[in-house]
Amino acid sequence: MTTNALITGWGMYAPSRVLTNDELSTMVETSDEWIVTRTGIRERRIAADDETTTTLSVNASRDALAVAGLDASDLDLVIVATCSPDYPLPATGVLVATELGARHAAGFDMQAACSGFVYGLATATSFIRSGMYRNVLLVGVEVLSRFIDWTDRNTCVLFGDGAGAVVLQASDQPGGLLGMDLFSDGTGAEGIIVPAGGSACPAGPTTIAERKHFIRMAGREVYKYATRQLTESSLSALRTAGLTVDDVDQFLFHQANLRIIESVGSSLRLDPSKAYINIEKYGNTSAASVPMALVEAVAAGRIKPGDRLLMAAFGAGYTAGAAVVEWTADPARAFLAPGAQTRLGKPRVEASEFAEPMAVS
Ligand SMILES: CC(C)(COP(=O)(O)OP(=O)(O)OC[C@H]1O[C@@H](n2cnc3c(N)ncnc32)[C@H](O)[C@@H]1OP(=O)(O)O)[C@@H](O)C(=O)NCCC(=O)NCCS
Repeated sequence: MTTNALITGWGMYAPSRVLTNDELSTMVETSDEWIVTRTGIRERRIAADDETTTTLSVNASRDALAVAGLDASDLDLVIVATCSPDYPLPATGVLVATELGARHAAGFDMQAACSGFVYGLATATSFIRSGMYRNVLLVGVEVLSRFIDWTDRNTCVLFGDGAGAVVLQASDQPGGLLGMDLFSDGTGAEGIIVPAGGSACPAGPTTIAERKHFIRMAGREVYKYATRQLTESSLSALRTAGLTVDDVDQFLFHQANLRIIESVGSSLRLDPSKAYINIEKYGNTSAASVPMALVEAVAAGRIKPGDRLLMAAFGAGYTAGAAVVEWTADPARAFLAPGAQTRLGKPRVEASEFAEPMAVS
């Protein structure tokens, strides 16, 4: 009998602090008109000082667990897809598992930049299909505001903070991942990079003075590569699923730039009304963008059991990932689970209730 990995729970969390384009234009030389025209972004969310990648993850995950009707102690594995972890080590996945009370779960981080959630979906599905685990929590989360040079207008207008989480469970019922494509090309490493803080360039006073601990990006090159690769990965994933663009009910693209999504949409010749867009509210939330789009699309009544979803993302590395998923859960579960809805700045648990971040001396 085939074991499938079905999404049974979902949740998201966006910090309450809204940073608008107009406010940004008081910080760097830019304008609302420039940002909206080039990217589609109108505002983004920024984590409060006492919020971390772990606290955002836990808020999204509590809702995902409530929707799934699962206790954290039933989890076998917690995967946190992020490129803005709390610390270089330990892994944020371990901290999230402990904060949730997932005392029987293994935990680790998945670093594939903005493609992390799609990589995580493939990984979680593989663990479940192999029979090793039955209940897996997958979080896509970023607090990129801590890795952004707020004096660099090329990057600071693009990114935002947020988290999306899903619970995947083993089932004999059909559904879940139907096809996928994972891609990487390290020749693009310089395209989006945090140059310092790793083994190639350890952090020190010089790297900090040179602002090398912040994200740097070659926007135009990234744009070209992203449009091409998102299209190719989407088509490849559809091929492995034995499906075509017309078979897809909802497209959930990584929300990096509205023009990239429109360009990919036109290459794929898809019906634009089938592509969920929320970039105007959140900017590029990297690994969090696909699960946040998923949670909002479900809440908006755009996804029902039997629908086929195409999730596709592109990011630093370069990496790309596309996944065709057959949705099986009743969207009403989110409304039945007390308190579990799309969560915008209304944390289930206040940041102050979390364990203190570790003291680093
Ligand atoms: C970053 C991006 C929006 C820039 O748009 P673009 O149309 O390519 O703009 P360019 O890079 O050609 O820059 C045009 C001009 O705008 C300027 N500019 C850059 N950022 C600006 C800002 N925030 N406000 C005003 N002007 C800005 C540039 O300095 C440049 O000026 P110049 O011509 O005098 O040199 C676009 O390249 C992009 O979205 N790239 C992909 C980024 C991405 O998605 N990264 C994450 C992938 S996961």
